[in-house]
Amino acid sequence: MNAMITKKEVPLNFNRVARWYDALQKMNPGYTEHLRLSAERLAVKPDANLLDLCCGTGLSTEALRAVYPQARIDALDASEGMLEVARNRGLAQPLSYILADVMELTPEQLNGPYDGILMAYGIRNMPDADAALARLFPLLKKGGTICFHEYSVSDSKWSRLMWNVVASTVIIPLGQLTSPGAPIYRYLRRSVLEFDGVTRFEQRLRDAGFVDVHTEPTNGWAKGIVHSFLARKPG
Ligand SMILES: C[S@@+](CC[C@H](N)C(=O)[O-])C[C@H]1O[C@@H](n2cnc3c(N)ncnc32)[C@H](O)[C@@H]1O
Repeated sequence: MNAMITKKEVPLNFNRVARWYDALQKMNPGYTEHLRLSAERLAVKPDANLLDLCCGTGLSTEALRAVYPQARIDALDASEGMLEVARNRGLAQPLSYILADVMELTPEQLNGPYDGILMAYGIRNMPDADAALARLFPLLKKGGTICFHEYSVSDSKWSRLMWNVVASTVIIPLGQLTSPGAPIYRYLRRSVLEFDGVTRFEQRLRDAGFVDVHTEPTNGWAKGIVHSFLARKPG
């Protein structure tokens, strides 16, 4: 497989690393705590109808389930390998797993509309972020909340430097050790460097029709690097 993968090839490349994904994230301090922070920041009602986009192996779904034990959740990903790990996680029902590409998603494939949508480490991987936002907007109920839990370092030299150091000294070497030759970890470094800064992404959300757009920080090493981007569909 080509070392420079395209965004369209990302789900296929996640198939290749799916069985190591959870073990690597366990070594990432704050990963689970930060996903829970974003789940809490959705601030939806206890029995909400929720969508976890790009759910991967279900770590973000697990965060939603922990914060909203009574919610019904649709967990969606385009990688069969990642979704298989998610299905075997044994999270409490009601919960559906859906194999689909966000860029081709239609409301008929889902059990929406939703009170809340979480997209953790997903929007950066979309071939066209604005087209993706246009697809997501109709999936939310009026007044519903969306949270993009995502890396964004382009507005700060310090954050870019920190990210480069962490990616090159920890993430890429560990990725090579567990899945030799897999290009997804180099892609990760590059895609984070190329993704919008906070100001640009907030503007994209406003341009897509969302309101109450704001960004909240994480902590530890990820402070200034991983953020919760929050927005609401007008009521
Ligand atoms: C870094 S993982 C994040 C998994 C999970 N949300 C978490 O927080 O651990 C990114 C996931 O996005 C999925 N993905 C990438 N592009 C996608 C697309 N166009 N449609 C659906 N899923 C996609 C990949 O298959 C992968 O499982």
